[in-house]
Amino acid sequence: MPTLTVIIASTRPGRAGLPIAEWFTERARVHGAFDISVADLAEIDLPLLDEPNHPRLRRYVHQHTEDWSRMVDASDAFVIVTAEYNYGYPAAIKNAIDYLHQEWAYKPVGFVSYGGVAAGTRAVQQLKQVVTTLRMLPVFESVNIPFHSQFIDEEGQVRANEIMDFAAGAMLDELRRTEEALRSLRTATVTG
Ligand SMILES: Cc1cc2nc3c(=O)[nH]c(=O)nc-3n(C[C@H](O)[C@H](O)[C@H](O)COP(=O)(O)O)c2cc1C
Repeated sequence: MPTLTVIIASTRPGRAGLPIAEWFTERARVHGAFDISVADLAEIDLPLLDEPNHPRLRRYVHQHTEDWSRMVDASDAFVIVTAEYNYGYPAAIKNAIDYLHQEWAYKPVGFVSYGGVAAGTRAVQQLKQVVTTLRMLPVFESVNIPFHSQFIDEEGQVRANEIMDFAAGAMLDELRRTEEALRSLRTATVTG
């Protein structure tokens, strides 16, 4: 089975991103189309980009970059679980994306976003611009959760409604379809 990596973009203590990612990860396991792996950027704890060479060259000098490269390389598709900070994406996700280049190419990406009335969608729109530069394919289907705290109970567990559940399934279906279609491009060498 292809591997889907769920990336948790927010890193601050007490973040809503963790329970939301836990809910989505379980939903993805039940969906059954992917082996699921989780990349929690708080745990991975990458410093601000400290590689001397352009990531396209893959001449990494730090072990943390090698580890991150291996994880992204081993993934066939991604879901980025993202907060919206000041109408944009959290800095940690941009930093983590910038570390690598070819490892991202020709892989589909979906988004689970959350926030106030806009449900984090402004962060998603910004991220789409970044990921397409790396030849990733953002899928249209997405999970956007407005006023997300209403879905998190006292134990810190997400209680999803039907809309969230349905949206997650639709996004996972589309990720699987596009992952399969992009496979031949992934085997070709990426240049430029
Ligand atoms: C620095 C900062 C900026 C924020 N800016 C926005 C924003 O632009 N839009 C929004 O809907 N919520 C905003 N919020 C509220 C977040 O939606 C809310 O705090 C959410 O829980 C953040 O995700 P996290 O808990 O995973 O960090 C902001 C929160 C922080 C900490």
